[in-house]
Amino acid sequence: MQQISITLGDLPRLSNRRLGELGALIRPAADRTSLRALGSRFVVSPPGFPTMLITHEIDDVREVFTNTEDFSVGQLLSRVANHDRVFGRETLVFLEGEEHRRERRLFAPPFQNKALRSYEDMMVEVARRELPNWPVGEPVEFVGIGYDLALGVLLEVLFADVPAQRRDRLTQAINQWVGALQSVGFLVASLLTPLLGGYTPPYPPLSRGAAAVDAVIIEEIAARRAAPGGDHTDMLSRYVGTELDQHDDASLARNLRGILLGGYETTAITLGWIAVMLAAHPEALAELDAAVDSGDTPRLDAYLDAVIAETVRLRPVSGFTGRRAARDTDLNGVRIPKGAIVIVPILAIQESLAHYPDPLAFRPERFLTDRPDSYTFLTFGAGPHRCLGAQFALLESRILLRTILQSRRIAPLPGPIEPPRRFHTGISPAHNARITLLPR
Ligand code: HEM
Repeated sequence: MQQISITLGDLPRLSNRRLGELGALIRPAADRTSLRALGSRFVVSPPGFPTMLITHEIDDVREVFTNTEDFSVGQLLSRVANHDRVFGRETLVFLEGEEHRRERRLFAPPFQNKALRSYEDMMVEVARRELPNWPVGEPVEFVGIGYDLALGVLLEVLFADVPAQRRDRLTQAINQWVGALQSVGFLVASLLTPLLGGYTPPYPPLSRGAAAVDAVIIEEIAARRAAPGGDHTDMLSRYVGTELDQHDDASLARNLRGILLGGYETTAITLGWIAVMLAAHPEALAELDAAVDSGDTPRLDAYLDAVIAETVRLRPVSGFTGRRAARDTDLNGVRIPKGAIVIVPILAIQESLAHYPDPLAFRPERFLTDRPDSYTFLTFGAGPHRCLGAQFALLESRILLRTILQSRRIAPLPGPIEPPRRFHTGISPAHNARITLLPR
């Protein structure tokens, strides 16, 4: 049967006067009654942005994530976000089709099954090394702890064999670059991007920081080329001087820097939310404590995995994502003109009663029996651009938390759950996940 097509103009529209209501899409447990009244698909046209379709329909979600010929993530990011400036156009997220598949094949193996198992001891070691630095018995910001842990782990995966002195310079350069990324100056440049039609004004501290990181990586690549062989085990060694050596040095450095950024802040924030959710849910904490005390590691791991899945369902780092139509196309009966944007409201879908019973309750048990579904559990995206580090981040969270919980307890913190930061496009704890660690 032929499907009847409608246009974006035929769908309900949220007027520009009511744009503020869209904030409910990235506020956990927000009241979305007025948006729901518009139906599962509605249109917005904020000044300076292309027309956007916001869809909660899972068939639409599947289509925009999997049909990468018609719906492009790179074109979306170039038009409304700062990614060109931060990552560079030749990095994975901007590529499509065969080129994207080829690059994923190059960069994915260190983040997949076989390699993952080989990182477990290293992750335990990183957590044990950091543990003595954290105060016990007084409040601590767990996102800060997460930053140290996530950076420590990623440096081991990417650059384990870099000599100590060069590695110190690399860490310093990374801190300088991340400082510029998080600065108010760059926030302003980023906010201007959509209004300037997709142009992020240059921000010199950022380009200086990025150049400093790349320079140290390029120096290490040169050192490895000058002395081939050696007993290297890190990710850099998979590329330099092997059949995978298909990038020039500057491009390899940019890609590795991009992976570092993709995996660093997201994981730190997620670790922070897990600590916040545990502190606010004594019954989940008690279950974990009992598993630790029993010495039954498989039981502890199974419950931790469920806690992590439930946390990222309710606190996905990105509350939404989207794609931009690369050409005129049709989305399950809706005509989408080239250049329009389709938004997938990750948080609202993951908080929907249609997909999760008692959706706002923190109930890790739901994931003890059911595996997350590809198109209603979207914290890591879906389809060919699904997060390259998803499995890695989940394993990393489990190993780090298991190691921490084996020598510390998280103190219960009754009262309202720490809210997300305001005026932030991501979902990150407003007080950097303030919890208290106690001795075990
Ligand atoms: C909890 C932690 C993480 C979260 C919540 C997260 C989230 C995401 C999401 C939502 C996307 C897809 C965006 C879209 O389709 O619109 C993505 C892509 C990506 N992520 Fe992650 N991420 C995490 C950790 C990591 C880690 C640890 C790494 C690397 C080690 C990583 C590297 C990447 C890369 C390279 C892409 C682009 C993939 C492509 O375009 O093919 N992420 N991530």
